[in-house]
Amino acid sequence: MAAEFRLAVSEVVETASFYAHFRLLEEGEAAPKATLRVCGGPACRMRGADQLHSALTGMGESSLRVEEAPCIGLCDHAPAALAGRVPVRGASLDAVRSALTGPPPNRPQPIPHDFRVWRRCVDGILSREAALAGLEASGLRGMGGAGFPAARKWRMVAALPGPRLVVVNADEGEPGTFKDRHFIETAPDRVLEGALVAAWVTDAEAIYLYLRDEYPDLHALLSERIKALPEGAPPIHLRRGAGAYVCGEESALIESLEGKRGLPRQRPPYVAEAGLFGRPTLVNNVETLYWVSRLLDEGAGLFTSRGRNGHSGLRSYSVSGRVRSPGVKIAPNGLTIAELIDEYCDGMEDGHHLVAYLPGGASGGFLPAHIRPPLAFGAIEEHGGFIGSAAVVVFSQADDLRQIARDLARFFAHESCGQCTPCRLGTVRAADIMERPAWDLARLDDLAHVMREASICGLGQAAPNVWQSLIRHFPEFAS
Ligand SMILES: Cc1cc2nc3c(=O)[nH]c(=O)nc-3n(C[C@H](O)[C@H](O)[C@H](O)COP(=O)(O)O)c2cc1C
Ligand code: SF4
Repeated sequence: MAAEFRLAVSEVVETASFYAHFRLLEEGEAAPKATLRVCGGPACRMRGADQLHSALTGMGESSLRVEEAPCIGLCDHAPAALAGRVPVRGASLDAVRSALTGPPPNRPQPIPHDFRVWRRCVDGILSREAALAGLEASGLRGMGGAGFPAARKWRMVAALPGPRLVVVNADEGEPGTFKDRHFIETAPDRVLEGALVAAWVTDAEAIYLYLRDEYPDLHALLSERIKALPEGAPPIHLRRGAGAYVCGEESALIESLEGKRGLPRQRPPYVAEAGLFGRPTLVNNVETLYWVSRLLDEGAGLFTSRGRNGHSGLRSYSVSGRVRSPGVKIAPNGLTIAELIDEYCDGMEDGHHLVAYLPGGASGGFLPAHIRPPLAFGAIEEHGGFIGSAAVVVFSQADDLRQIARDLARFFAHESCGQCTPCRLGTVRAADIMERPAWDLARLDDLAHVMREASICGLGQAAPNVWQSLIRHFPEFAS
């Protein structure tokens, strides 16, 4: 490959060794027939993922490689696994075996959509300014985690000299998040339409959709739907990730799209100014684009007439863990944890009561049952966490929060790209301290301070939320 692409061998090796889904084989070593990836996310662990991993390893099949994988986005069907390229919901030894040999499982057909919003744009019925004003009136914010106002970002990109590009972020790696899977699975045309409208408003010449490699079924579905796009649509290039959480961070994602290691860039310039191939690039999350399509179709009232506890709009919550009905809940923005569990998840599982929850996946930190702020952007920070992509993982008296925190700290240590010292060393040192019988709280605090202040990207800045929130709200688990 190095010779073919005129690269140094080291450049090929550093890229190949960066991603979890690439494997460097020794000369003469045979590739495994299939890799079995058992999800090690919090929801899967509480439902027996470790036992499944041991059972699969115990099969003694040398042609199969068994690995623990970071969250694979099937938390509402825990425990989950990937058998080769087949997602296995409610995974057991038998289910994984039959996934390897049997036909792929039937999935519900997505709801087709006629791209009427995009057609109204190109037919001159909906002007660029009217589209932007519509989004502004709705108050739509980016659903990838940071909550940046969508229309403001579109205006910024549109004002820069072309040619411009649009990138759809479908990397969805935050443990506990599976909403993008839901939107692509159930309404792929809405997501694609949102991207077409974004490209039209910003006058972008192409769209790149970066989909995590853990979603092979969605890759097939999107390839089909992209082929069926209406005539005149700009090209949508579907690209696969290769198993790296950090590639969800937009500048790392751009690097990855360019074929390199997913190292977040030092800013400025921001990707809006110099993104993919050095061009101004608009990056939006799958869910943001889904709402673009619906809001410009149904009007800003879809958001302004809804909301709860002083917050407006609708949003998705990916709910997993100890609730009766886990899943993606499309519900008013700003619900409290009690409202979300009681009104949308049929309550707690029998015999379990709420002890703690992650409001925003691993990065968002733990909250105790009695602290119930609105689950909305900016409302959780005073308690030491954030909502991010609203990956709500619910824990009960049956769960060992200390062990869960250790697993999450290990996750960040594993996923750190290693580019900056505070995060590369801080995540590993914190995870090591948390393995010990007694935690050195002063050292954990010190590491958290340095990581927050001096890490390049959000991974290193947010990772300390795991231990800092446990120390703050659950001192009995963190000593
Ligand atoms: C470590 C890290 C991981 C991220 N992962 C994702 C992700 O998987 N999906 C996503 O849309 N945004 C993710 N983001 C946020 C993106 O950097 C970016 O803000 C987002 O894609 C912008 O789209 P939006 O404005 O529609 O939210 C991540 C950020 C960080 C720091
Ligand atoms: S904070 Fe961590 S993930 Fe982000 S650039 Fe630094 S080392 Fe990489």
